[in-house]
Amino acid sequence: MSEHFQQVDVRRLRNGHGAKWGMTEDGVIPAWVADMDFGIPPAVEKAIHAVASAQDLGYPYWPDGDPIAASFQTRMKKLHGWEPELEGTRIYSDLIQVLQVMIEHSTSPGDGIAIHVPTYPPFLASIHRSGRRLIPLPMKSTDEGWQLESEAELLGRLAESGCRMMILVNPQNPSGRVFTPDELSTIANVAEQLDLVVFSDEIHAELAYEGRVHTPFASLRPDTARRTITATSPTKTFNIAGIRVGVAHIGCDSVLQRLDDEPLDYFGQPSNMSRAAAVAAWEQSDEWLRALKGVLSENRELVSSWAEGHSDRIAYSAPEAGYLAWFDFTRAGNSGQAPADYFETMARVKLSPGAEFSQFTGVDTESFARLNFATSRSNLLEVLSRLDRALTPMRR
Ligand SMILES: Cc1ncc(COP(=O)(O)O)c(C=O)c1O
Repeated sequence: MSEHFQQVDVRRLRNGHGAKWGMTEDGVIPAWVADMDFGIPPAVEKAIHAVASAQDLGYPYWPDGDPIAASFQTRMKKLHGWEPELEGTRIYSDLIQVLQVMIEHSTSPGDGIAIHVPTYPPFLASIHRSGRRLIPLPMKSTDEGWQLESEAELLGRLAESGCRMMILVNPQNPSGRVFTPDELSTIANVAEQLDLVVFSDEIHAELAYEGRVHTPFASLRPDTARRTITATSPTKTFNIAGIRVGVAHIGCDSVLQRLDDEPLDYFGQPSNMSRAAAVAAWEQSDEWLRALKGVLSENRELVSSWAEGHSDRIAYSAPEAGYLAWFDFTRAGNSGQAPADYFETMARVKLSPGAEFSQFTGVDTESFARLNFATSRSNLLEVLSRLDRALTPMRR
């Protein structure tokens, strides 16, 4: 199975409709958007074919309930011992939509929404556009890796801020942190004291590396369950972002009530094909996932030893989950350009620009860039050697 992950079909990727390769100039290796260069699990491919063969593409009709909701419930119970209720589960088309819907239905214009920074850029844009106030919670880079603020610091920042919602991304993007139950308890305490809704994005949870255990925020204790909206999807783990599926579990009754007051078709819904693919991913693709995690783990080691070899120029803590590496190039010197721009020109490798991960917040992540290492070993070696060659001439 792991050979499947060592053959990256560049022609297929270049000719397809994925943004990662499609939006990257010929000759430049894309290592930006969080899609993996691998294929999809065989069971997912089979499930999509089965829908097409049965020509089952009429308007969706699931009299016994949405199969994604049932599959989500079973998966959460199996992986984390947490059993989300079907009544509180809603299906959408992706997590940005889920966040926007939940902002609209659990806060009002002018309310504060807190989020740890750096973070997934579309979330910052979504809050910014919503007419709510973005309250950045800066993460701290320490010798032990990226850390959250203490309870006292959080309370000091949020107590008089008019904050109504906190967005937690766990595992975090781009730092790759998997927050411990103690860290989550700190957030739960603050949420309890300030009566916040917590939006917990857990889309990277299944990609936690050995030794790290993901804890669903809603499972922490009964009071967190009642104030948490959990958002997830099989899309990241199983490399199927194009199927467009997002799952939300809403623990707050008032938010559920407001959602239920909307017209039935207001939010849209995934296709029958997307549903079949999502269920096949969660229910029949564990062997594929095991092999994937082995490959990602090796790639992560490779990136760590590469960064270690450049520790005079790069500050880096390896992710505890996921396939994204967040590099600080402050010590590399000033090339006169943001690192992602510099490396695209000089190394012909496309990284995600650091500044986007703190846009609209005033936090400065300009000297950072994010590398996606979900590719074959040979492609990753080529990426790292191209970066090597461009790092050396950077002015210090
Ligand atoms: C933290 C996080 N949340 C949400 C998403 C969006 O995922 P999707 O488009 O599959 O809903 C991503 C994508 O990279 C992500 O990293």
